[in-house]
Amino acid sequence: MNQRNNHRLVLFPLPFQGHINPMLQLGRILYARGFSITILHTDFNAPNPSSHPHFAFRSIADGLNQPQASAADIPGLMSLLNARCASPFEESLREIVMSLQGGEAAPVAGLISDAMFNFTCGVAERLKVRALVLRTGGAASLYVYSIYPIFKEKGYVPVYGSRSQEAVKEFPPLLVGDIPAEDPKKPEAIFRILDDMVKTINNSGGVILNTFEELDHQNLVSLQEVFAVPFFPIGPSHKRCGASSSSSLLAEDRSCISWLDEQPPRSVIYVSFGSIAAVSETETLEISLGLACSEQPFLWVVRPGSAHDPEWLEKSPSRFLEALKGRGKMVKWAPQTEVLAHPAVGAFWTHSGWNSTLESISEGVPMLCMPCFADQGVNARYVSDVWRVGLHLNGGLERENIARAIKRLLVEREGEEMRERTLVLKEKASACLRQGGSSYQALDALVNHILSST
Ligand code: UDX
Repeated sequence: MNQRNNHRLVLFPLPFQGHINPMLQLGRILYARGFSITILHTDFNAPNPSSHPHFAFRSIADGLNQPQASAADIPGLMSLLNARCASPFEESLREIVMSLQGGEAAPVAGLISDAMFNFTCGVAERLKVRALVLRTGGAASLYVYSIYPIFKEKGYVPVYGSRSQEAVKEFPPLLVGDIPAEDPKKPEAIFRILDDMVKTINNSGGVILNTFEELDHQNLVSLQEVFAVPFFPIGPSHKRCGASSSSSLLAEDRSCISWLDEQPPRSVIYVSFGSIAAVSETETLEISLGLACSEQPFLWVVRPGSAHDPEWLEKSPSRFLEALKGRGKMVKWAPQTEVLAHPAVGAFWTHSGWNSTLESISEGVPMLCMPCFADQGVNARYVSDVWRVGLHLNGGLERENIARAIKRLLVEREGEEMRERTLVLKEKASACLRQGGSSYQALDALVNHILSST
């Protein structure tokens, strides 16, 4: 057991898988540095306390009912969470602060909330608690968000199909279609969310980023020019935590690991579109036919709700798998970081969520990118054009196109070269965490920053 430093941190994750994972990883990292950790969380998508026995958990009533808690309208759900959580959050944080004042337990040294909660820094200021934020996306997308008003002014957003392949002169190699714009019919909703996030960051005492200097240097420099608060790029966080650190909201189907054990090295395409992105039934059919035509082994995550018909996995895959004579494996949820670290995995077909992107880079696995929304277009552009460790699925979700892209990655020289570049980044991702490495130093700086205010 490592030494406790008699300071408690309260962490408040946004209740989506791609935000819960990096926040709970951060909790583990800071626990290992001696802090006591309280996770304040919503009822909706509550994390499982038994997976994190060293943390204290406390829930706040978000008052969301089933239809409101749907992932179909993420900007709407974000606004609702911000409106509903503000007052129960304040009440809970006040109780935690009061109950720990002057007692035996570690007093609150700070709050770390997701940067997409827009009320937390104001509450912390009222309660005289230092507030930091965790931004769960990458540095490039955050920089794009910070200059979003310029994109708006230049007429790049809202994005219309006809302009989507145009270059963004102010930010090469971005194309207009890479800029996040949830719904061209409701551009103000996304603009408000991004504007709130930028304001929250400006009001915070610092920003923790799940990335590393060697990957994102130029954007980290640009961010530091835009924002006056300090940045702490301490990632890749999951590599500091070990395999037992899962905070999955769905049960992980581990049978895919024994299936991978039987596949040749670097032969499998792993297919997963994260925790929110959904595809239509027609698209699901094209994906299955594309996988079939590729003639490569595949591991495909079909999350409940990811194909618009929630029964799809029950109805179709047995037929599909029979047809493919065991060349593929389908699961509802996989232990993704373990899958990516498996020697049989040769490529990752991803929606380019930031966690998936960083997890893939950390294991040296090249990517086939199919960005769906939010920061994913920016992440995918960096993967294909800046780091050159993956391909865009240009030409759309169409079987021959899919099969061709998979073969380019798994079979052809081009894919081998991408793998070599990804392996260089993997080594950097690992080196930055070692003593004296950039993320190691950033974590030291973060701990000192938190303790300097106590
Ligand atoms: C969302 C946004 O889409 C993403 O762009 C943003 O950066 C964070 O919030 P999500 O879509 O879920 O996240 O994608 P991603 O960021 O990749 O996070 C998914 C997480 O779920 C990853 O940590 C991944 O390891 C995990 N996962 C996914 C599993 O553990 N098992 C699976 O089967 C699939």
